Amino acid sequence: MKKDVRKAVIAGNWKMNKTRPEAKALIEEMKPLVANAGCEVVACVPFTNLETVLEAAKGSNIKVGAQNCHFEKSGAFTGEISADMLVEMGVEYVIIGHSERRQYFGETDETVNKRTKAALAAGLKVILCVGEMLADRENGITDELVAMQTKIALKNVSAEELKNVIIAYEPVWAIGTGKTATAEQANEVCAVIRATIKALYGCEAAEGITIQYGGSMNAKNAAELVAQPDVDGGLIGGASLKAPDFAVIVDAATKG
Ligand code: PGA
Repeated sequence: MKKDVRKAVIAGNWKMNKTRPEAKALIEEMKPLVANAGCEVVACVPFTNLETVLEAAKGSNIKVGAQNCHFEKSGAFTGEISADMLVEMGVEYVIIGHSERRQYFGETDETVNKRTKAALAAGLKVILCVGEMLADRENGITDELVAMQTKIALKNVSAEELKNVIIAYEPVWAIGTGKTATAEQANEVCAVIRATIKALYGCEAAEGITIQYGGSMNAKNAAELVAQPDVDGGLIGGASLKAPDFAVIVDAATKG
């Protein structure tokens, strides 16, 4: 399958980091460093930073994302944020189903599907996260598990809506651990996800969908990972908090 038909996307996942002044400073530092990017650049920031970062990124090529949204439009859901609230602010992207949400906040494949559908219906672009735990890999069920997570997350998502979905393959054992999947391991599972999309939506959709790798991607290993035929960029945690490192990763994806 041809890689040049797809857009590489480098998205920073700031997680629960940065106060508003710190967020503004980080975006200001990033702007000139990524201004000539040949890939899409996204910063997914805490809810409290969205307004600050939207303002700071105005006129630049940095797109802004949130890290979660609820599946209902409004109501008695203390502590949650709806997709419409994000859209009204000017937010373009949202991460859905991150493994930390699944591990620590009770997200299931079913709630990930509901949140995905709600975000797409509201007009957001979704960065949908899938990935196996270490025990799954050791049990030899990585491919089946990731295919299953992908299928359930996309249940009742139309082919038209799929155009606004990016899938991030993030092996849980590689997140924040410094243990990166090898480029071959990353490519292998991204290819499984692409095959799953092909089975569900056909060849054109599979060729067109952006599939990122995430999990301890950094300035040193990014080039090898994003050069893989089925890896179209990355979802970056720790290294997205350092503007120079993030810029090196953006450069690597620009070169592809
Ligand atoms: P990491 O996080 O780059 O710090 O491993 C990636 C992620 O959780 O998206």
